[in-house]
Amino acid sequence: MNTRVESALNDQVQKEASSSQFYLAMASWAENNGLNGTAKFMYTHSDEERFHMLKLVKFINERGGKAIIPAIALPPKEFNGLENVFELLLQHEIMVTESINNLVDICLQEKDYTTHNFVQWYVSEQLEEEALARSVLDKLRLIGGDKGGMYMFDRDLENAAIMSDASNSATQK
Ligand code: FEO
Repeated sequence: MNTRVESALNDQVQKEASSSQFYLAMASWAENNGLNGTAKFMYTHSDEERFHMLKLVKFINERGGKAIIPAIALPPKEFNGLENVFELLLQHEIMVTESINNLVDICLQEKDYTTHNFVQWYVSEQLEEEALARSVLDKLRLIGGDKGGMYMFDRDLENAAIMSDASNSATQK
């Protein structure tokens, strides 16, 4: 495997692993703050990021490279409310998208069209994840400090997590 592509893929393994840990910290914070729907949504999201990482690890090894299992930085223990959580999530996803775009660029420079093809799945995934984070943030801004609205929001997120679980178990088989 091309060493530059291998190194960029391993950087991505690290980013997906830290995304999983970051969203796990958000899930735990939400659970401790009575936001059970948000917690379920974040636990599911954390699992998805672990799946993104595993998919990369397997691809690197199958193509004759060596996947490196990374150390992960300590995620935050506290968050400053739900809007803060989803702002951080969106910023994080924007950073991941930039990293995926950089990976696409390296594949083209190195003429590694197989990896380029593989990475397209991540390009589409990032589009969806950023759009989801933006739409959730829009809802939160509409609700403002309204407690009834917040209760409904948390319940809606629980339903979104259940639907995402169902579609993931269908596509990850
Ligand atoms: Fe796998 Fe949300 O980046």
